Amino acid sequence: MPIRPWPGKSLNHGLHGGMIKVSKVRFFSGEQVPLEMHKVRIVQKLQLPPLENRLEYIKEAGNNTYLLKNRDVFLDMLTDSGVNAMSERQQAAMLLADDSYAGSESYFRLESKIKELFGTQFFLPAHQGRACENILAQVFVKPGTIVPMNYHFTTTKAHVVLNGGVIEEIVIDEGLSVTSKHPFKGNMDLQKLRDLIRKWGNGKIAFVRMEAGTNLIGGQPFSLENLEAVRKVCDANDLLLVLDASLLADNLYFIKEREPQCQSMSIKEIAHRIFSLCHITYFSGRKLGFARGGGICTSERELYLKMRELIPLYEGFLTYGGMSVREMEALTVGLDETMDEDIISQGPQFIAWMASELIRHGIPVVTPAGGLGCHIDAAQFVDHIPQNEYPAGALAAALYIAGGIRGMERGTMSEQRSPDGSEAFADMELLRLAMPRRVFTLSQVKYAIDRLVWLYANRHLIGGLRFVEEPKTLRFFFGRLAAVSDWQEKLAAQFKADFVDSL
Ligand SMILES: Cc1ncc(COP(=O)(O)O)c(C=O)c1O
Repeated sequence: MPIRPWPGKSLNHGLHGGMIKVSKVRFFSGEQVPLEMHKVRIVQKLQLPPLENRLEYIKEAGNNTYLLKNRDVFLDMLTDSGVNAMSERQQAAMLLADDSYAGSESYFRLESKIKELFGTQFFLPAHQGRACENILAQVFVKPGTIVPMNYHFTTTKAHVVLNGGVIEEIVIDEGLSVTSKHPFKGNMDLQKLRDLIRKWGNGKIAFVRMEAGTNLIGGQPFSLENLEAVRKVCDANDLLLVLDASLLADNLYFIKEREPQCQSMSIKEIAHRIFSLCHITYFSGRKLGFARGGGICTSERELYLKMRELIPLYEGFLTYGGMSVREMEALTVGLDETMDEDIISQGPQFIAWMASELIRHGIPVVTPAGGLGCHIDAAQFVDHIPQNEYPAGALAAALYIAGGIRGMERGTMSEQRSPDGSEAFADMELLRLAMPRRVFTLSQVKYAIDRLVWLYANRHLIGGLRFVEEPKTLRFFFGRLAAVSDWQEKLAAQFKADFVDSL
């Protein structure tokens, strides 16, 4: 029987119409397996260094997975930033780039795609997400101002603080509980927002920031309903609403999947509505659009003009903003493909599958499974390690030893110390295993699960870490740590005993 197009659901992006929604493909066995709606046509060979080398490499890297060399990593689950697999259409578009310092056609293609997809009038290009944050913070954050947000991202907070402001996190309480059934744990608590406005007065509030797919609390989405309500509070108090759309693709998917009022809306309609609710939206093109770059979108001329003059100063001329023309072409196509549910569902579905397999083995993970990656609750996994010995960092180092898998610490190590030098303990101690889109196969994800199951059985062997080199700002990027005991040797010896001659 020929396969007929799924009625009314497909977006035709210049490909042949009649795409089938992956959620409509059922396995005869009844198994719930995420099915890839793409095929792999370019591959990169991987190496898995032997155990003895892994032990040596993690020590050389100061137990900081950022400092591992990629050639020594088997599965790179550090991040999805700039490492999602591109489509053939993106690669093809990169060949047609128009190289010029000013007035490049590649820029105009990107600008008009953003207008079409998001409905915003003005676009300011930037080389990545944090560059947008620098511009926003320099323009709007003054000493003594506050920025309420559902939750912070590391670079966002650093830019606000650098400009003399402070951040206030007002995510709903469920957002900070590791396990929950709440479908939108990234929602802002409206009462907390009103209380903050009453306490500080709107003159002290630089802007209100919503982050799509909240990175640091497990890639959790906000609902469209919540964003609408936040905008109402902003309007009633004459406040600017700024959206960080870096993880919007996952958030769009969750809104479409979980929010009743959006079931009949297309992804593009939801995106349009979201952008129309925010005065300013910025994004990292390393995440949104499966490319590299970023930018700021607004429909308000006055706001645009305020930010515009900083672009040539920090980023580059207004028609590239630090991006290569090739990346702009890839971003244009990548943003277009973000409107395709089959494409944006791949990440969340792999993550949900991984989370459910880990739960089946009793391993504590953030629920509901979010976007970006699978988040292991290190506070529970290694509950014998105190927070000042960085349990999530220790678990990340242990997983590299056990399987050559590189995850990212998202806990106290990723926080900055308080001004008095004391540790600012993170709300959650998470080991994030990012799922760059379309990069890993299911058997590779199974391997990661297998090594985690082994580690969980041997978790009592994992010990803490202490800083031996600690940078003042964003210390997690290049700080170096040492194990507090010889636990890593003991863990390696147990691995050798259990796996014998296996890598
Ligand atoms: C939510 C969020 N905002 C901002 C950024 C910063 O973007 P970039 O890495 O492109 O500077 C990131 C990057 O991970 C992010 O996840």
